[in-house]
Amino acid sequence: MSGTFLRVFGRAPATEMSAPGRVNLIGDHTDYAEGFCLPMPLTLETHVAMALAPEFCAYSEEMDATLAFDPFGAPRRDWTDYIAGPLAELVKAGFDVPPVAVAVRSTVPSGAGLSSSAALEVATLRGMLALTGQTLPDSEIARLARAGENNYCGVQCGILDQMASAVGRPGQALLLDCRTDAGRLVPVPSAFRFAIVHCGEPRRLADGVYNARREVTANAARLLGVPSLRDASDALLSVLTDGEMLKRARHVVSENARVLAAVEAIEAGDVRAFGVLMNESHVSLARDFEVSTPALDRLTRSALDMGAFGARLTGAGFGGCIVALLSGKISDWWPRVAADNPAAWLVQGGPERSV
Ligand code: GLA
Repeated sequence: MSGTFLRVFGRAPATEMSAPGRVNLIGDHTDYAEGFCLPMPLTLETHVAMALAPEFCAYSEEMDATLAFDPFGAPRRDWTDYIAGPLAELVKAGFDVPPVAVAVRSTVPSGAGLSSSAALEVATLRGMLALTGQTLPDSEIARLARAGENNYCGVQCGILDQMASAVGRPGQALLLDCRTDAGRLVPVPSAFRFAIVHCGEPRRLADGVYNARREVTANAARLLGVPSLRDASDALLSVLTDGEMLKRARHVVSENARVLAAVEAIEAGDVRAFGVLMNESHVSLARDFEVSTPALDRLTRSALDMGAFGARLTGAGFGGCIVALLSGKISDWWPRVAADNPAAWLVQGGPERSV
């Protein structure tokens, strides 16, 4: 990384920081309804090298481009927004944010639903804090990163990705309560072997659909007279007369319950029970929340046919990855899944136990 910085900017960086991508084991589209989710950091990471500079500029190895950006000005509507947005929030929070040159290298695939954006946001904040000798707790870094994505990038995401990246620890799941932003690390026994597989279709540009799903769940909560769907029960949902709203709300309520049951399953070492919950989660995301695609459904089915205990889409959906809970060796399972899904590819460096 320092070699890349030297080549692009003609001098050594002053600091280098990194942050991981994540896989969400269960609990999708619950975070913005103040619910629960269970992410796990990947060993794939985004690295950022930084030094003070006359003006803000960033180089991305993936894009092979150097661009000027301005956290005090308007978004460019490209990848630099994920650097500028968090820095803009750092300014709002009263921190010193001098102009910097940034070089970015990432092994987190972008557009895969594995939080490449959050990894860049968190790594950027860590870099700026280290460079200027300032500190913030990890959970605050996550909050500023999310605020940057909400306010600067215009994506109304919840806190899942940024907390997983900033607070998560390798080899452990993180039970997140998105009402309080409290996280509890949950050690994952070695019998839980996860694999992440990309369906071969990139996550479609779905910010509009994502924001619409978020809005319908907020409207459902308003109609039900509860602060958020976190507070709704199955019985209460029967009040909803709009069929589409009922389905969306039913996903959120049932998914929250599945996350808590999944943590119990991990703690009891019950791999099969965890797998059943993953399968129920996928069906709910596909039928009630309608964020799956034919490719994700086919891959999930195939993962189970080839012996996985459970499989589900992970992240926002609309393309990208599934996560599967394996019952045997990945070297026996993957070639059969691959033969059945020629466009799919195995994400290396997933949760440590998958490889
Ligand atoms: C995206 C968002 C998260 C979360 C997931 C779905 O990754 O950034 O906040 O809503 O989708 O669980």
